[in-house]
Amino acid sequence: MHVSEIASGDIPPLSGYSEDQLDKAFAAISGEVEASSAALSTPEAIEAFRLQWLGRKQGRLKAISDAWLKSAPAEARKLIGQRFNTLKAEIEQRLEHASSSHGAAGLDAEALASKRIDVTLPGARRQLGAEHPVIRTQNELLAIFARMGYSVSIGPEVETDYYNFESLNFPPGHPARDTQDTLVIAGQDRKPLRDRLLMRTHTSPVQMRTMEQHPPPLRIVIPGKVHRNDAADATHSPMFHQLEGLCVDTNITFADLKGTLDHAMKELYGSSVRTRFFPSFFPFTEPSADVQISCPFCGGSGCRKCKHSGWIELLGCGMVDPSVFEFARLKQPAYDPKKISGFAFGMGIDRIAMMKYGITDISLMFSGDLRFLEQFA
Ligand code: PHE
Repeated sequence: MHVSEIASGDIPPLSGYSEDQLDKAFAAISGEVEASSAALSTPEAIEAFRLQWLGRKQGRLKAISDAWLKSAPAEARKLIGQRFNTLKAEIEQRLEHASSSHGAAGLDAEALASKRIDVTLPGARRQLGAEHPVIRTQNELLAIFARMGYSVSIGPEVETDYYNFESLNFPPGHPARDTQDTLVIAGQDRKPLRDRLLMRTHTSPVQMRTMEQHPPPLRIVIPGKVHRNDAADATHSPMFHQLEGLCVDTNITFADLKGTLDHAMKELYGSSVRTRFFPSFFPFTEPSADVQISCPFCGGSGCRKCKHSGWIELLGCGMVDPSVFEFARLKQPAYDPKKISGFAFGMGIDRIAMMKYGITDISLMFSGDLRFLEQFA
């Protein structure tokens, strides 16, 4: 049967409603579908096939449904309906197959040209991130201490009173515990003091946390954020960064502390920088010292940066207080202050970064302003 005849052809009447007779009738139609889908090579032919079979008013499927289904006795409807659905699925499958293979192979030259990529066009530029000046300074410091055999240790920013104060020999009533300096977590009043949570005010609690985990010898540096309830101004921020250091072994002396920090400062600012140590006080070190470096900007002759003194104060340090080792010993018996000794130090990373890059307002570093940050890319 020719295609054009099918399109206009009438639907032959069913010879009966037995399954056998129905199968035969539907097989004949299925043969017509197959014949008329043989040459679907252009979009026009595909559309003609679709209209011929599935067209809502003129389509042959509609004609079959009208001729066979509507007049059928109720008990035959189900059998016809099943076969009808199978036929419809077959037609749809052929349509899909024809249009997908046409889509892949049938693009003409013009359509292809419009899809071609012009490799000479500039690409979409991806913004590269860059190290923040604080993180860059922190990494420089970590590298300096790594070369001296130090490992990196970190701890939580939300800390207990025990680690932040008690185990570091801050006696009850010590001014540093004052809520004017310390940001405490609300609603802790029913807990024993030592378990109450606060924002750590320094990185020193990680000294104790690390000693509890590792017996001596120990050489660690501890970078991280710390929090104090300071009013923000050009040189103060309620959040800032510290780098802590701790060295514990047999026969560690103050000379080791001086040599280590002097070397670290020369690595950071250049070999002509000098250091000097002044007596100071921290509850967890004895003796304690503040360390100044000769002004790296004027070489020590005096300038605005060093307030014409030739020196800049940079860090706090000291020999680990025996009472701190006593707390560590509760978990690690090897921290026996009769057998070992150690030194610790702490410095503000933000201040060092500001000096290094000539930044005069600390809030610039934490505002997230791209105009500031892009200068370090
Ligand atoms: N934790 C001290 C501070 O925040 C610094 C410090 C660390 C001092 C280690 C001595 C030893 O001020």
